[in-house]
Amino acid sequence: MKLILSVALALSFASSTGYASPEEDLAEYRQFFKKRFPNLSQQDYADGVYAINPIARENWEAIEEFPPYELAIEDGEELFNAPFKNGKTYASCFKNGGLKIAQNYPYWDKERQEVVTLALAINECRVSNKEQPLPYKKGDIAAILAFMKDSSRGEKIQRTLTKEQPGAIAAYESGKAFYFKRRGQLNFACAHCHMVYSGSNLRSETLSPTIGHATNWPTYRAKWGEMGTIHRRFQGCNKQVRAKPLKAQSVAYRNLEFFLTYLSNDLEMNAPSSRR
Ligand code: HEC
Repeated sequence: MKLILSVALALSFASSTGYASPEEDLAEYRQFFKKRFPNLSQQDYADGVYAINPIARENWEAIEEFPPYELAIEDGEELFNAPFKNGKTYASCFKNGGLKIAQNYPYWDKERQEVVTLALAINECRVSNKEQPLPYKKGDIAAILAFMKDSSRGEKIQRTLTKEQPGAIAAYESGKAFYFKRRGQLNFACAHCHMVYSGSNLRSETLSPTIGHATNWPTYRAKWGEMGTIHRRFQGCNKQVRAKPLKAQSVAYRNLEFFLTYLSNDLEMNAPSSRR
């Protein structure tokens, strides 16, 4: 246990001394997972636990023959193209009519000084067109996300974070601090399960590595019996350690998503997806 904890400390050490840039973090974490999973290619990480557990992968591949998220993509397309009461559509709010752009979210908005996720942008589009915002965890927003993200399938996540963007770096650091902070009755950080114990089993599940966590959302989870957003998953993971979940699209969760997206750099998007 002591050894394991010191790994966790080592991973967070660089940040506590203030010297690790996001770029250095990325190199360090890639190295860490490379040692743990020497046979994985970078892109393999986008498949989460199915990249490291062959039996789970087999089941998953069988499920993917008739993808359970297919319907959500169709629903999402319909919702996406349905005009608001004022006659405009979602396409009017986004570059390229909203297609093949999901890989660029979340991004740091310099004017607003905050992280803008795709889900947030969808609701802001609604509000600016005098429509009510949608609930953030499931339902219509998950379907619209599924459609928009599906159009970005195969597009690479590409982010650079440099000293010239102090606000973006601060958002990244806040997401990272959240990831390494112990919480809940179990006193576990995200990094315990998804870095230190990644590849080990927790009850009936194998713990997936951090890298790749941002490529595949929204997802159809068998456990939910429906689609859900990545912030819904964050809430579930907070609850697992009996910590109080935050609100979907809270600043902390948006920063967390921003951090995880940076760590998924150079991976191709493969959302929507299915998971257990
Ligand atoms: C007690 C262990 C534990 C902790 C702590 C934990 N998780 Fe998880 N997490 C799991 C398990 C189990 C799964 C399902 C199997 C898997 O994909 O790893 C999961 C899945 C995920 C997934 C989905 C991966 C995919 O491929 O779809 C994400 C994203 C995630 N966790 C993020 C987080 C974040 C962020 C935190 C911290 C707020 C966190 N987890 C803390 C156990 C944990």
